[in-house]
Amino acid sequence: MKLTPISLLPFLPFLPTLVSAIFQDEVDHIDYHHQLVGLPQRETTFFHRPRRDDKASLLYTLSDVGVLGAVNPGTGAVLWRQLLATNATAGAPARGFLRAGEGEGWLVSALGGDVQAWEAIGGRAVWGVTFNEQVRDLEVMEMTEKERKDVLVLGENGPETVVRRLAGQDGRVVWEWREVGGGIPVQVSTNVEKVFVVSLKGGAAGYNLRVVVLDTLHGKRLDDLTIGAKSDVQGPEDVMFVGANSAAPIVAYTDAARQKLFVNVLGTKTRQEFPLQAGTASVEIHAPHLVQSEPHFLVHSRTATGNHADVYHTNLKTGVITKAYDLPLLPGPGAFSTSSIGANVYFTRVTDNEVIIVSSASHGVLGRWPLDETATKGSALHGVSEVIKRTSSGDSYAVRTAVVTTTDDWSLILNGELSWSRPEGITGGVAATFAEIPENESLVKSLEQEAHSNPLEAYIHRVKRHLDDLQYLPAYLNAVPQRLISSILGTEVSGKQGKLARDSFGFHKLVILATRRGMVYGLDIGNKGTILWSKRAFEIPEGDTWNVTGIQAHESTGKVTILGSNGDYVELEADTGKIIDSAAPGPEKTVQSAVVIDTASGPTLLPIGIDGHISSLPADRLPKQTVVTRGPGGELKGLVFLSNGTGTAETTSWVFSPPKGQRIVNIGTRPSHDPIASIGRVLGDRTVKYKYLNPNTIVVAAVDDKASTLTVYLVDTVSGQVLSTSKYDGVDTTKPIETAIAENWFVVTFFGEYALRDNTAQSLKGYQIVVSDLYESDAANDRGPLGDSETFSSVEAIENPEGGGLPSVVSQTFILSSPISALQVTQTRQGITSRHVLAYLPELQGIVSLPRMFLEPRRPVGRDPTAAEAEEGLIRYHPAIEIDPKSVITHERGVLGIRKIITAPAVVESTSLVFAFGIDVFGTRVTPSFLFDILGKGFNKLTLVSTVVGIAGGVLVLRPMVRRKQINGLWGAS
Ligand SMILES: *[C@@H]1O[C@H](CO)[C@@H](O)[C@H](O)[C@H]1NC(C)=O
Ligand SMILES: *[C@@H]1O[C@H](CO)[C@@H](O)[C@H](O)[C@H]1NC(C)=O
Ligand SMILES: *[C@@H]1O[C@H](CO)[C@@H](O)[C@H](O)[C@H]1NC(C)=O
Repeated sequence: MKLTPISLLPFLPFLPTLVSAIFQDEVDHIDYHHQLVGLPQRETTFFHRPRRDDKASLLYTLSDVGVLGAVNPGTGAVLWRQLLATNATAGAPARGFLRAGEGEGWLVSALGGDVQAWEAIGGRAVWGVTFNEQVRDLEVMEMTEKERKDVLVLGENGPETVVRRLAGQDGRVVWEWREVGGGIPVQVSTNVEKVFVVSLKGGAAGYNLRVVVLDTLHGKRLDDLTIGAKSDVQGPEDVMFVGANSAAPIVAYTDAARQKLFVNVLGTKTRQEFPLQAGTASVEIHAPHLVQSEPHFLVHSRTATGNHADVYHTNLKTGVITKAYDLPLLPGPGAFSTSSIGANVYFTRVTDNEVIIVSSASHGVLGRWPLDETATKGSALHGVSEVIKRTSSGDSYAVRTAVVTTTDDWSLILNGELSWSRPEGITGGVAATFAEIPENESLVKSLEQEAHSNPLEAYIHRVKRHLDDLQYLPAYLNAVPQRLISSILGTEVSGKQGKLARDSFGFHKLVILATRRGMVYGLDIGNKGTILWSKRAFEIPEGDTWNVTGIQAHESTGKVTILGSNGDYVELEADTGKIIDSAAPGPEKTVQSAVVIDTASGPTLLPIGIDGHISSLPADRLPKQTVVTRGPGGELKGLVFLSNGTGTAETTSWVFSPPKGQRIVNIGTRPSHDPIASIGRVLGDRTVKYKYLNPNTIVVAAVDDKASTLTVYLVDTVSGQVLSTSKYDGVDTTKPIETAIAENWFVVTFFGEYALRDNTAQSLKGYQIVVSDLYESDAANDRGPLGDSETFSSVEAIENPEGGGLPSVVSQTFILSSPISALQVTQTRQGITSRHVLAYLPELQGIVSLPRMFLEPRRPVGRDPTAAEAEEGLIRYHPAIEIDPKSVITHERGVLGIRKIITAPAVVESTSLVFAFGIDVFGTRVTPSFLFDILGKGFNKLTLVSTVVGIAGGVLVLRPMVRRKQINGLWGAS
């Protein structure tokens, strides 16, 4: 068969998907991925040998975002990761537990009620059990009567405390011990013979420390000890350490004033008291976790400006604790870590300018390395270390320490040298925006000046400026040959190395990302998403979240504004991260959200008060559009602002309350850049269906929990009128519901019932995406009641609802094989390129780009498309959308915990920039209608140029010959 263009037409719809696959050599060229584990936690990070006979150990951590990961300490590369917490990015940090048995090939983790064992080398799950209780502590029993190591789990379920011993190899419960009303369980600990359950008993005035002693074989209660005076302890957070597995495990706590430290050797009745350094703000205790180690421990106390340590020894026979020596007060927070070799215990101290190791036995410094402060950027906060003793040439020591710093980095210091640093702080992203690379500032200023002066002055200024510019001409001319060559060889796209500059395609931009820990990052997305700068905006206390309500990049000034919920804001420079202005979070939540509005002085980020009110605004910051806010009862309000000359007055123009029983779960708003290339759709029969293009529309999804229904409203934001309503039954309202709107269509995704079309009696449940197109009229070639009128008023539509203005809605439901979240629509410069719906697939850990062509409500149902429909690109409707691996833009990468996807147009029409954040950070460029305006990397410009040159040469040579021949011919003919 001859392949004519017409015979290829039916295949046209499939073409974009066929070509959306990218070439292998484009991976890592157009996309980038920061594969992260999150900020390691003090108690859940350690070095561990994954195989008993291996010398090499790996670095394991269960981070504050709930990722369990293994990192190669030599290179800093992630070997494997598991996401344990499904929603840790959104809420408070995950309080998980991670332990490993010495010489065992598995790790055990606990988070919430889940206890799981993992293969240490490959990260595969070995076993897992889920309990009703919340796990409060987890320990590995290093020595048991059996040849294996077992796991102790302490759980809390309301007033009940549960301790279980699980078999190490399969998670079977060996015994369990329960008690009701025994107080707040704090920790569980063990030595060779006994299990100790530490809890707090008491009430609001204070607590007593209570230790229940159980036998290891059957979990029988042996003893019940109350330690110290009543109201010794203020709360669980004051109990700072309960060692386990050492020959003499201890429990330690401080008094409320942090003047005294109380230590109890578990199993004894007495507590011993030690003074703390004056001005101590916090205390940490470091001790070995091994039975064979010496019973020594170190008390690390921090004051407001410095840190200090005391080392104590425990007498195993008498249980008496004595102070051995102390380490001097040094500036900075400091980090201590413990490492043991056989019975010997070593403490590693990392301060801002040095790393030292000491033996627990005496205060002599065994090794000292100066530390380059600039290498680690921040101060070390906590760390883990591994000390190696070389006996060959006298006694010399080497130490590697993985520290978490004040800049939220995780760095490995090998003998005082920074060996790698992982930017784990970019996990926990809460808001991000694209920003243009600022243009030459002086030019912007000059242009502004010219705009504000009289024409003659402006002209003189301009001539002067051009004369000034002449000095750059030689350099420019010099660079021309090089630019020509690089353009022929196709080396241009990645831009000039080392210098931040825009490129002609618009791919080179910045992304500014704010994290919940109070850090702000600037990423250079034209250069593989490298981190250009990072800045701490605010000190956010551990466990708290920076509640960012809005972020906006100002193109004209190159500044970025970030607004928070507690009246806080930061303004910084996009290219350097220099903080220009900031205000720290206040004690109370005052801002509900922030929106970008159009004002006389350009787009501005406007904070909306907690009850949906906006404080009075200066006249030049008056919003030009209606601002939609949430009222105190959750209703939507449309606010308009009127200026009365001196000030502005806020007027509520409409209120939209969903019917009783419904609550709004999601609101979809249009992207700020939503250009419309064509106002109609040409159908196969050459008629036109006109799109309903009302820029003032939002989609509101409201659920009724009792009735399990979802209602989707399309609301006009000028009039508050509901333009369309659709209701879905059998919806699981606890599962995420999301919406997105663009051009003349919107999508909504949820988990609910759907009826099979061929067998209506049967209904199934599944993840669905419903797409709705809006047209001006049901009929083609009809512009509805509005006709050809140039203007239209949302308000008139209310006054005359019969007369129309209401869109004609065509909807279709598609069933997805897995849930999707973080819906976003691609954006291109002029909106000519077809749009794709981007979504995160939490189960597959990828981002999918669903072509609008598949999500097409007009696809013919139950029959093949007619010739006209096929010409239009419609394919037969099929309810299920299989996630095609080719449409997964993250390809084979596992991208964890994406919370939000943002898109921005490039300069070239074909391309939309995509950036996704949450735990991992991923970015790429997508070309929904194929790359039609740029030559691919594979295009051989050299051949083209040489062909052109060759032809030109040929023409030059042949032209005289041909002319001569023609002239001769003319003469000969006559
Ligand atoms: C999500 O986090 C909240 C607390 O922030 C918790 O109550 C809830 O159970 C978590 N949901 C899942 C599915 O883990
Ligand atoms: C963020 O919001 C939560 C809940 O309202 C609040 O407890 C917390 O203090 C806020 N964080 C900051 C830094 O303001
Ligand atoms: C204009 O509005 C402001 C703010 O609402 C108010 O304080 C002022 O009195 C008003 N002026 C006039 C002339 O109404």
